[in-house]
Amino acid sequence: MEREFTKAELLKLYDAHVAHNYKPFSGFIGRSGKGSWVQDVSGKKYLDMLSSYSALSFGHAHPRILRALIEQACRLPNLPGAFYSEEKMIFSYELARFCGMEMSLIMNTGAEAVETALKLARKWAYKKKKIKRDRAEIIVCGGNFHGRTITIVSFSTEPQYKNNFGPHTPGFKVVPFGDVQALKDAITPNTAAFLVEPIQGEGGINVPPVGYLRACRKVCTENNVLLMADEIQTGLARTGKMFACNYEDVKPDVLILGKALGGGFMPVSAVVGSRELLMTIKPADHGSTFGGNPLGCHVARESLRVLVDEHLVDRAFNLGRDFMNDLKDMRSPCVKEVRGRGLMIGVVIKEGGPNAHKLSQRLVRNGMLCKEARTDVIRLAPPLTITREELHWGLELLKKALL
Ligand SMILES: Cc1ncc(COP(=O)(O)O)c(C=O)c1O
Repeated sequence: MEREFTKAELLKLYDAHVAHNYKPFSGFIGRSGKGSWVQDVSGKKYLDMLSSYSALSFGHAHPRILRALIEQACRLPNLPGAFYSEEKMIFSYELARFCGMEMSLIMNTGAEAVETALKLARKWAYKKKKIKRDRAEIIVCGGNFHGRTITIVSFSTEPQYKNNFGPHTPGFKVVPFGDVQALKDAITPNTAAFLVEPIQGEGGINVPPVGYLRACRKVCTENNVLLMADEIQTGLARTGKMFACNYEDVKPDVLILGKALGGGFMPVSAVVGSRELLMTIKPADHGSTFGGNPLGCHVARESLRVLVDEHLVDRAFNLGRDFMNDLKDMRSPCVKEVRGRGLMIGVVIKEGGPNAHKLSQRLVRNGMLCKEARTDVIRLAPPLTITREELHWGLELLKKALL
């Protein structure tokens, strides 16, 4: 039998052998999880109020999704895109229908899906909009977060994400988030697409002004520019609507999904849109060994069913509204603002108040997984399956830290 490593030994292994692209809190080393709870190697239980930035929207090891995973793992876990796969065919159809669209292109991680959308926008620009070769521009927002590839960090406005990773990919313009006029002004005949998060997650849970998305939709339509909504974090019930764009009845041309789509088990992401648009990508233009693998597709199909069967949109809406009110009612002297939608919540710490990173670490020490976004926001995004009692438990911990 494999021997058990001590906490000290594991930390030593981390130091010596794990690339340091993260700096985790040293008091917690995760071992197992069920529902809204995670247990560390010493047996201590933690309430997961981060749910892997929405990837664990169904909680840890959701029993129905776990069953689907095992079922497909035993049947046919993998098959390359070069062959027809029953699961990929059915999932692509079901996902497109779920989104009110026509076609899906399945990938694995969020960044891959964003890259796919960018390629799609450029191909569409050259083939349909007839923009001259290599002139296509894509507009993005300041404070964006769309992933970590070279191209995506090329248009990040966060210096650490991009410095030392140049030369950067050209062809992107940055406009302030929430500013429709800036978008209008930035559009030229060479503009292919506008890529936007309906609520910025990593950027600090930034909710744009009411009417912003609808106005962006109008500007994009008037200028024959694709509206591409990155709903990797906001999508699939997180904000209390199935998609955050639904708050303004906006239908983007391209919907980018990830995180929760994999049910907390598999990296599954997708680009969903019209047939006309997705058909601009021809065989061999794009691909991925694992993208659309039967295991991921089967898990994602069950995840979409659980989303509906367990009424997670309504749960996120109602629990989020009440929890946000509870946080506001706390009247903490160090909280400047509580913002967000549904169960995507940011607690903004006042200038001169306690450090958000240290506060998050204190909360972890006390039994609650959470993390800061940027320097002054504590981000709360529990599983959508969380109970009122569990949320109340979390609230008490937050009170202890913030009052
Ligand atoms: C809005 C958004 N887009 C893209 C990504 C990148 O996803 P991944 O980490 O799966 O590549 C993230 C991850 O946090 C995200 O929040």
